[in-house]
Amino acid sequence: METTLIILKPDAVQRGLMGRIISRFEEKGLQIVGCKLMQIPMSLAETHYKDHKGKPFYPGLVGFMTSAPVLVMAVRGLGAIAIARKMMGATFGSKAEPGTIRGDFGVSNSFNLIHGSDSPEAAARELELFFQKGEVVEHKRAIDAWVYDMAKGSPE
Ligand code: RTP
Ligand code: MG
Repeated sequence: METTLIILKPDAVQRGLMGRIISRFEEKGLQIVGCKLMQIPMSLAETHYKDHKGKPFYPGLVGFMTSAPVLVMAVRGLGAIAIARKMMGATFGSKAEPGTIRGDFGVSNSFNLIHGSDSPEAAARELELFFQKGEVVEHKRAIDAWVYDMAKGSPE
């Protein structure tokens, strides 16, 4: 099982798309194990996107991410990191395939609704940045026995 960090960016919150995007993850069978609304401080935005420091879009990116509240989520499931990235679609709405979150809900080449960790290492780092101890609540779901085939003792 993996947990990934998802951020519903300021445009998703302001446009009233939180519920619809959360529903997509729930409908897929992924589990929300952490969730909070917050306004990201500049220092945290800079740390989170440190790999992009120096790129032309970096100042606009950290400005956008700190401009209004975001919804931060810890999303758990088998292969959750790659699955969430597929569900998000290509970086910008203009390029993202229909059926993906960015493809269905956005057209912008800057505002792109959602962030998702892109590797297990990034997920571990980002979850620690955004969630304090105890804020990620791993729990059994009643539906798990129907989301995963448990016949061999582990989820399939
Ligand atoms: P994210 O990190 O937010 O999940 O997005 P991503 O992996 O699809 O894209 P990434 O390359 O990591 O870029 C991070 C964010 O920077 C903005 N960006 N702008 N103007 C540009 O060329 C450009 N490239 C990237 C986007 O907000 C992107 O989500
Ligand atoms: Mg990225």
